[in-house]
Amino acid sequence: MSDSLRVRGLRFNHGTRALIDDVSITLPSGEMIALIGPNGAGKSTLLRLLTGFLTPAAGECWLGERPLKAWPRTLLAQRRAVMRQQNSVTFPLPAEEVVAMGRAPWPPGKAQAVIEEVMQITGSLELVGRDYRSLSGGEQQRVQLARVLAQLWHDDGPRGWLFLDEPTSALDLFWQQHSLRLLHKLTRNGGLSVCMVLHDLNLASLWSDRVLLLHQGKLVAQGAPQDVMTESTLTRWYQADLRVVMPQEQGRPQIQLRA
Ligand SMILES: Nc1ncnc2c1ncn2[C@@H]1O[C@H](COP(=O)(O)OP(=O)(O)OP(=O)(O)O)[C@@H](O)[C@H]1O
Ligand SMILES: [Mg+2]
Repeated sequence: MSDSLRVRGLRFNHGTRALIDDVSITLPSGEMIALIGPNGAGKSTLLRLLTGFLTPAAGECWLGERPLKAWPRTLLAQRRAVMRQQNSVTFPLPAEEVVAMGRAPWPPGKAQAVIEEVMQITGSLELVGRDYRSLSGGEQQRVQLARVLAQLWHDDGPRGWLFLDEPTSALDLFWQQHSLRLLHKLTRNGGLSVCMVLHDLNLASLWSDRVLLLHQGKLVAQGAPQDVMTESTLTRWYQADLRVVMPQEQGRPQIQLRA
């Protein structure tokens, strides 16, 4: 699937304040894209605009050959899935039923096989039968990742656009690596495109093809990790006291805070 995501002059206001201010981007399909920026920069708002959950004041998002809002609802749900920053379930529900929600846009035929496969690859099979509300934060995040992968699962694996808002925020080191390696591998297969908000710049650097840096609603830098994650750019936009090192073995910048 070669559906790029495009938007020109995107704006979103709250009262007189611009939360998203004239953002233009083209996201090619098949990549891992990290959306970074300080708290309140507008990352979650931008994700909601790009996924059609918010209506922009100006600018129109295009997915493939048509504007987002021209996509039939079911077809769109089969080609773009969203994992939000907070996901609450207020009633008793086993983990596998949360994953099964991802199959809502699909005919029921293969649901069971897909649910098992995505729970297996995300490491959440061991959570089958557990009440979602009783799971730890990290376990819930693994189940949510399984849910959105189930939603995009076509005959030969996941296809389309996956939007993730801080998908690793509750994961330990093992599961951070596991989840990002998995997403990276699935994008290399060509069918899946990932756009994820990450606060952990080291994870963003290791696994993304492209980094977008947002600050006060404006896109202030974009490019390969080594182009965006420089000491001067990060210090300027985050105002943090940090240094950037480039370990020989991976050729990707790593960010260290100074004590
Ligand atoms: N519905 C709303 N009403 C008023 N202000 C809002 C609303 N939604 C977001 N904002 C404000 O817009 C700005 C951007 O919010 P957003 O949630 O997009 O930030 P973010 O970059 O995702 O931040 P974080 O890293 O903390 O998750 C913030 O200042 C926030 O307070
Ligand atoms: Mg946010």
